[in-house]
Amino acid sequence: MNKEKRVGLARSALLNWHASHGRHDLLWRRFTDPYAVLVSEFMLQQTTVATVTPRFAEWMQTFPTVADLASATEEEVLTAWQGLGYYSRARRLHAAAKTITECHDAIIPSESESLLALPGIGDYTAAAVLAFAYDLHALVLDTNIIRVLSRWANLDTPIDIGKGKKLLMKIAESFYPRTGCRATASALMDLGATICTSGIPQCSLCPLQQTCLADKPEHLPRKAPRVVTLKQSELRVCFYQQERLYLELSQGPRWRGLWILPELGKAHAKGYRSTPLAEVTYPITRYRITMKIFETLDKPPTHLRGFSIDELNSIPIPSPHRKAIGAVAKRLFSIHNSGESPN
Ligand code: ADE
Repeated sequence: MNKEKRVGLARSALLNWHASHGRHDLLWRRFTDPYAVLVSEFMLQQTTVATVTPRFAEWMQTFPTVADLASATEEEVLTAWQGLGYYSRARRLHAAAKTITECHDAIIPSESESLLALPGIGDYTAAAVLAFAYDLHALVLDTNIIRVLSRWANLDTPIDIGKGKKLLMKIAESFYPRTGCRATASALMDLGATICTSGIPQCSLCPLQQTCLADKPEHLPRKAPRVVTLKQSELRVCFYQQERLYLELSQGPRWRGLWILPELGKAHAKGYRSTPLAEVTYPITRYRITMKIFETLDKPPTHLRGFSIDELNSIPIPSPHRKAIGAVAKRLFSIHNSGESPN
């Protein structure tokens, strides 16, 4: 079978399958408003569909247009982003909205170059906006699509090195149609999410089975050997006095503008050699961080701000710190109820 014929057969089988088996109920698929597409793509960058769905709906009510988002304060934006993690995405989306409002008359650009010039927009997000919002030609390549295409072409070069990336782009160029890519991108994405899944795929249900070249799909896509996860610990202090918890406004870079438990500086660490009140573990890039939180009766430094329990619900706090505060509150509550001393 020649190359064009194989692609043609694959594409039409894929689109037929998609008409009856696609994830047409995904909330953001009901929007072709480019701003809604942009928001959903930012949210979906590192967060699951299940977590994003309710947050996307709330976001579109809070900031219905790109101009509404541009005129919001950073605190409002970060509060609305709570639970989605990786807050730098919220800041970049906010910055992109400001640039779009100021420099593009509040219209999301429909050319790759202008999109790529915006904060937080890389190759994937630019292609997704072109395809999903404007139905233009764009090589949308997310994790699901990369898996489907590398199996379909039996690409056994690691896809995270230069040569593998180039080969993958060639495969994508041959698979995507010359014009409108919305349907093909949605269909490839859904096939990867439901049938051509990581691990062992369900090839007997796959619309691409006649044209797929993979002999061991479970081993594809290949990746260059991974760097090991590094363990780190960080020490934090809990100043809880007169029913107020004292937090610090982070200066970033990761959590700038969010409220966090203050760090226990090296100079003070000796005085706190007691058992931590609570421990929370969380991943950041290739680190696995264990946060240990110690109680103190010292006077809180003046740069901290005290919050009542109710107020804590309406300020932006990154998830690991919110989890740590919950663990500390639980422990303090049980200590106070049992008359136990914390250490
Ligand atoms: N539809 C459009 N973009 C999507 C994404 N990133 N994940 C799932 N479905 C989508």
